[in-house]
Amino acid sequence: MAYVRPICIRCAIDAQPVRPYGAPLMITSPPPVQPTDAAPVLVLERGQDAVAVDNLIERAFGPGRLAKAAERLREHNHPARGLSFVALADDKVVGCVRQWPIHIGETPAVLLGPFAVDDAWRHRGLGSDLIRRACDAAQEAGHGIILLVGDDTFFIKLGFEPIARGRVTLPGPADSRRVLWRALKAGATDGVEGRVRVG
Ligand SMILES: CC(C)(COP(=O)(O)OP(=O)(O)OC[C@H]1O[C@@H](n2cnc3c(N)ncnc32)[C@H](O)[C@@H]1OP(=O)(O)O)[C@@H](O)C(=O)NCCC(=O)NCCS
Repeated sequence: MAYVRPICIRCAIDAQPVRPYGAPLMITSPPPVQPTDAAPVLVLERGQDAVAVDNLIERAFGPGRLAKAAERLREHNHPARGLSFVALADDKVVGCVRQWPIHIGETPAVLLGPFAVDDAWRHRGLGSDLIRRACDAAQEAGHGIILLVGDDTFFIKLGFEPIARGRVTLPGPADSRRVLWRALKAGATDGVEGRVRVG
């Protein structure tokens, strides 16, 4: 019988496989949740959702995500309280968005991502709903700016705009056309520039 080792996605790259001598290593992830008649509900991410969210992120992005500049802003950081959401269908996680406290230069801001919808649930507006919910929550909490690295064609229609090349510096390489922000208050991005860092 094959040995199946449960794996913490956050530790996947550093983890050394520990298994009986000669046994093959298999990394397993639960299968995607298939659509049902139940309309997904958006709720704040709960502690009990963390594993399902990590699995969804792993399926959507693969291990390559850990090398991205935005990941440097998530490690040694904690999701901002009350700003991360999941979409639940029959109490199963089918979508997620997390947000993190950062600074852009001296200005506090929020980093949005990862953001994913399970393959079987895409093209129904769920991703856009998650982004709108995340933005509303950040605005209600008094934040001024959300920054993300993502596809402009998707995010511009949700109120994000490109940042002029060189105005902000991420802790790693990123395509400047994909570095976007959204002001949650009038003028919130005026004069904001600099290095993006955790906290
Ligand atoms: C991006 C994602 C969350 C969108 O979820 P969704 O529930 O399908 O989103 P919506 O239904 O609100 O919008 C879908 C539309 O966005 C567009 N879209 C989706 N991904 C896109 C992308 N990477 N770039 C540009 N447009 C995109 C599609 O054209 C789609 O339009 P259509 O339904 O008319 O075909 C989902 O495709 C996903 O999880 N992708 C893998 C992870 C990822 O890329 N996350 C975003 C990283 S910033």
